[in-house]
Amino acid sequence: MSGTDYTISLEIQHRIRFTRGAFERGNGILAELLESDGVKVAKVLVFLEQAVAAAFPDLESQIGDYFAGVSGFDFRGVRVDVGAEDCKRDEKVLRRVWDGIEEEKVDRHSYVVCIGGGAFLDVVGFGAATAHRGVRMVRFPTTTLSQDDSGVGVKNGINAFGKKNWIGSFAVPYAVVNDFEFLHTQPENIRRDGLVEAVKVALVRDLAFFEWLEEHADLLYELKAAVLEEAVERSAIQHAEHIAKGGDPFETGSSRPLDFGHWAAHKLEQITDFKLSHAEAVSVGLALDTVYSWRTGRITEEDAQRVLNILLKLGLPLYHEGFEQRGVNGKREVVAGLEEFREHLGGELTVLLLEDLGKGEDVHELDEAVLDECIEYNAAYRNELLVRV
Ligand SMILES: NC(=O)c1ccc[n+]([C@@H]2O[C@H](COP(=O)([O-])OP(=O)(O)OC[C@H]3O[C@@H](n4cnc5c(N)ncnc54)[C@H](O)[C@@H]3O)[C@@H](O)[C@H]2O)c1
Ligand SMILES: [Zn+2]
Repeated sequence: MSGTDYTISLEIQHRIRFTRGAFERGNGILAELLESDGVKVAKVLVFLEQAVAAAFPDLESQIGDYFAGVSGFDFRGVRVDVGAEDCKRDEKVLRRVWDGIEEEKVDRHSYVVCIGGGAFLDVVGFGAATAHRGVRMVRFPTTTLSQDDSGVGVKNGINAFGKKNWIGSFAVPYAVVNDFEFLHTQPENIRRDGLVEAVKVALVRDLAFFEWLEEHADLLYELKAAVLEEAVERSAIQHAEHIAKGGDPFETGSSRPLDFGHWAAHKLEQITDFKLSHAEAVSVGLALDTVYSWRTGRITEEDAQRVLNILLKLGLPLYHEGFEQRGVNGKREVVAGLEEFREHLGGELTVLLLEDLGKGEDVHELDEAVLDECIEYNAAYRNELLVRV
């Protein structure tokens, strides 16, 4: 018998930039990031989400002008396609991404630039990660949620078998450019909702950030640009720090602090056939796991209410009627989601609860009766507040 174990060490740059007006003449960030590798002129193919193209009618021509003004790149045009959750439901958009990469002969030394929300980035990112086993991908997230969370992450994917992100890969993007110009055109409620991931990351990593979010909740509700941008930037950095320094960027272990509140969220999205947005579902999931943390003696009721209050102040839900959907055995379907969450991760069920505000703790089982109490508490909490007001 013979054999050898090799250790393959990788050092990967995760380049994240914050800017405004990346495609304006004189903004050098993108051209500096896309250094051609010296062998030849690098191709650049841009995928632009339709909703963003509609919100910024001059963007397409601006991108063309930008690349006309910098040397070292062979600009292959802008392809506009549909985004939002629908683009992850099947393979239509993915196939068009592969078609574009093939038609323009984009190779592993070329760049795919993707401009859009989290769903569009997930699909184009998967297309880029699988074409030629991975072409370079530069992400331009255009929503609050994608700028403060998913855009700086290292995952992509589409839905399959009625489950979120069943098909997908881990792929560190070549670069991420958070251009704040894109942040202010989504409908107001959706723009606000994306802050839920900032609340989440603050709760599991950074008490000072949570307190800052509490202090600025009114300004955030009003979507004051400077405050929104600061929240987004701080959240993006916290997410990136966890990925780069947390010791498990590709989630091979069971612990996933950035998925706080997500086990219930993913199931609620599925139960509602994705009518409940990811952000709303995460808010309900955060509320549930926060109150569970209190009911199991980890945090105080007062601290749990601080979390519920900030979610409400941002206009986010604590409860959804999807909780009432039950299977043949009378069990809540959301609770069955725990098993799917474990399957998706593999290994032992691991759910993060709050040990304190700003600090998480992994647990390996949840008590169904306590979950019931928490769901009822959150449903009533919102109503009580409304009565009080
Ligand atoms: N890959 C990851 O690590 C990761 C992490 C978290 C979430 N996600 C995924 O991200 C998706 C949610 O992302 P999202 O919240 O950005 O939603 P989204 O991509 O569905 O975008 C929300 C809506 O805003 C529109 N839009 C996008 N940019 C706009 C702009 N600048 N102006 C006006 N409208 C705009 C979209 O067309 C869509 O209708 C989910 O599919 C979720 O699973 C992925
Ligand atoms: Zn999320």
